[in-house]
Amino acid sequence: MSASLETTRGATIRVADLVKRFRSGDETIVGVDRVTLDVPAGATVAVTGPSGSGKSTLLHLIGAIERADAGRIEVDEVAVTGLSGRRLADYRRGTGFVFQRFHLLPALSALDNVLAPLLPFRPRPDDVDRARTLLSEVGLAGRERAMPGQLSGGQQQRVAIARALVGRPRLLLADEPTGNLDSATGAGIIDLLWRLRDEHGMTLLMATHEASLADRCDRTVEIHDGRIV
Ligand SMILES: Nc1ncnc2c1ncn2[C@@H]1O[C@H](COP(=O)(O)OP(=O)(O)O)[C@@H](O)[C@H]1O
Ligand SMILES: [Mg+2]
Repeated sequence: MSASLETTRGATIRVADLVKRFRSGDETIVGVDRVTLDVPAGATVAVTGPSGSGKSTLLHLIGAIERADAGRIEVDEVAVTGLSGRRLADYRRGTGFVFQRFHLLPALSALDNVLAPLLPFRPRPDDVDRARTLLSEVGLAGRERAMPGQLSGGQQQRVAIARALVGRPRLLLADEPTGNLDSATGAGIIDLLWRLRDEHGMTLLMATHEASLADRCDRTVEIHDGRIV
C-alpha cells in the first residue's frame, strides 16, 4: 500500500503593514507597500493586478523566500517575519510554493526533484514512498526517473506541485502557475490544484492575471503599485 496522505487543516494568514523595498542603483522601488491582509483557514484567495504590481513579492514574503523591511506576517501560530535558522527552514519546508516557470532542478529526476525540499533534513524512511505517492497523485506514476528536459511544460508543473506538497503544507502559494502553459494544459493544472487543496486541506493563495481563475477563488485581492486597492 502507498504511504497515506493525511488530511490537514489549512493555515490562517495574517499580514499587517507589510513593506518590501528594492534598491536599484540610487532608486528605491517599493515592491509591497503597507499591505494588510487576512486569509481564513482553508480559503482560496486570488491576488490579481498588473505586471509589476507586487504579486510575486507578496507571495515571496509570505513564503519566507524574501524578507520584509517592515510589518508582520503570521501563519497560524508562527510569526514568519521573525524567523531565522532552523525555525525558518522548518517553516519553508511546511509551506508549498509553485512558480510560474516550474523551477525544477534540471540534473535531478522527477522523483529527486520532489524530494529536494527534504534534503536539508534527516531523511525519513517513508519520504520516498510519499514522493512516489505524490507523483502518482499528480498523474505521473511511472515517470519517477524522467528528467525535467524529457517532460512537457504541464508535466514539469505537475512535478513542481508534487514537490510543493512533500513537506505536508497547510499553505500553498502559487505564483501564476499557468502563466507558462497553453490554456488547456493550464486548465488541467488548476483542476489539479483545486483537487489537491481539498484532499490535503490547504489554504491556497494564488497570484494570477486571469479573471476566469480569480472567479473560481473565494476572494480576490487586487494590488496596484504594491498597495491593495
Ligand atoms: N529583486 C528585485 N530587485 C529589484 N526590483 C524588484 C525585485 N523584485 C521585484 N522588483 C520590483 O518590485 C515591483 C513588484 O514586482 P513583482 O512583485 O515581481 O510584481 P508582479 O509579480 O505583480 O509582476 C516591480 O516594480 C519590480 O520591478
Ligand atoms: Mg510576478
